[in-house]
Amino acid sequence: MDRRPERRSWIVGNWKMHGLRASLAAVVEIDRAAQACGEVDVALALPFTLIHAAAQAVSHIAIGGQNCHTQPQGAYTGDISAAMLHDSGADCVILGHSERRLDCGETDEIVRDKLHTALSSGLTVILCLGEHLAEREAGLAEDKVRQQLTHALTGLTPSPDLARHLAIAYEPIWAIGTGLVPEAPAIAAMHGAIRQSLAQALGPSARTIRLLYGGSVDEGNAPAILRLADVDGALVGNASLDSARFAAIIQAAQDIRDA
Ligand code: PGA
Repeated sequence: MDRRPERRSWIVGNWKMHGLRASLAAVVEIDRAAQACGEVDVALALPFTLIHAAAQAVSHIAIGGQNCHTQPQGAYTGDISAAMLHDSGADCVILGHSERRLDCGETDEIVRDKLHTALSSGLTVILCLGEHLAEREAGLAEDKVRQQLTHALTGLTPSPDLARHLAIAYEPIWAIGTGLVPEAPAIAAMHGAIRQSLAQALGPSARTIRLLYGGSVDEGNAPAILRLADVDGALVGNASLDSARFAAIIQAAQDIRDA
């Protein structure tokens, strides 16, 4: 299988609303673990308050945010712009996470506007897509995810530069934080469908876009998930808060590269 040289593995931790300054020690431990795994790209999407300090403390991983505003600047009390993230040392941002779609009312249109603003601010975007359990049970999972993807990509001009700055995370909502993970064929099928939709929307450059799986990834299931076709990495919530567990997931990605 020759997909590997084209797309480096990417393991991204999503700390959500966790982490005080004392947690920077764990960030540094993760940075060290990443240094030892040269075939794997690693990023940590941190709370806004830790981004600047973390970006200064690391050398081998990228630092990211977990959200940004649709507008580049303005009278939006309490919000953070993509340019502010970039200025604080973030390289990337998670957008469209289901917790934001559900808790903060982010529609496909809002996610699309955030995506455009983040890309024009120089950030790499990890765009999250995923279905509810009822949608999967009704056989509608692929339709839902394709629809989210198509909405988000509307208005973007295909180019190698866009492909370099975009990753997709498939995160079934029912798998997030639950310990439930889809069967391997279901993950592979969804990633194949996303790859196909990307090619339709963006042409040949889409083949370099990385597709991550997220939802209850841990050090036990990571090796099997990361081996699946069209899975180029993982978006890891809970297990990324513990540097040893996250390091084991990074190592699993490295081992697959070495095999
Ligand atoms: P989890 O979260 O790994 O804790 O399931 C993943 C995510 O929400 O990105």
